[in-house]
Amino acid sequence: MSVEVDRRDAVAVVTIDRQEALNALDVETLSELRDRLHELAEDESARVVVLTGAGERAFVAGADIKYMSGLGPDEAKEWGALGHEAARLLEEMPKPTIAAINGFALGGGCELALGCDLRYASTNARLGQPEIDLGIVPGWGGTQRLARICGLGVAKELILTGRPVAAEEALRIGLVNAIADPVLDHALETAQNLAGKSPVALRVAKRLLNLSPGALEREAEEFGDLFASEDAKEGLAAFAEKRAPRFVGR
Ligand code: CAA
Repeated sequence: MSVEVDRRDAVAVVTIDRQEALNALDVETLSELRDRLHELAEDESARVVVLTGAGERAFVAGADIKYMSGLGPDEAKEWGALGHEAARLLEEMPKPTIAAINGFALGGGCELALGCDLRYASTNARLGQPEIDLGIVPGWGGTQRLARICGLGVAKELILTGRPVAAEEALRIGLVNAIADPVLDHALETAQNLAGKSPVALRVAKRLLNLSPGALEREAEEFGDLFASEDAKEGLAAFAEKRAPRFVGR
């Protein structure tokens, strides 16, 4: 099992455990995560959901780049849709969701955290959208949610440069709500607090806060289309081969 669900009274803690790849998500792990989130969305006994990564190094280091390097556009669209489904469940399930970011939250990892209602970071956390350096773009909601949460100026800088930010900067730009060690304890404290509030009022508050236009479908489409480019093939292959990519502009 690479996704564990642990109940602590009315709080469900979901832990992604694929530590050999810094909890990067392959199809099996992401499908399992989507299934567990779907069950928790329906389960009224779970009042708050906390998402974290196993070990001390990573929350989630992104989508699995080695897996993606073999994808064509149609498969990449399906892959994008699966990530969108998981992030949307975190964003839309009728109960609060909290990301306890215990290390790297890059690419798809940052995007899952952005799907959560609250984000807390450990002091060693590093967050960002480095996809541009792989010749692709964020494909699980990052282009829309990062802009909504941190503002368009910050989102453009982070997505166009691919620059990761440390915890202090993440706090300053509003990407995380607080820094705490151990971050899971802080997330659990907030979760217990929220579990004592009216689930009906929380559900409505969350629904109202989420009322804003988005272009998530367009992102999923264009993410997949990029997999037809030579630059995406080069960027994704270069990561696995541990070398710098040589982009040709096609
Ligand atoms: N996919 C697949 N494997 C990954 C991975 C990923 N996203 N991130 C880390 N790993 C693997 C590494 O390949 C390595 O495996 P091997 O030992 O078999 O080589 C292992 O995890 C440990 O990683 P490193 O040796 O690289 O550890 P480090 O401390 O030197 O560096 C890091 C850590 C900076 C996070 C580096 O691993 C890294 O840059 N990872 C990729 C981050 C990234 O680009 N994420 C975005 C992916 S694209 C995406 O998510 C698209 C989307 O929007 C859907």
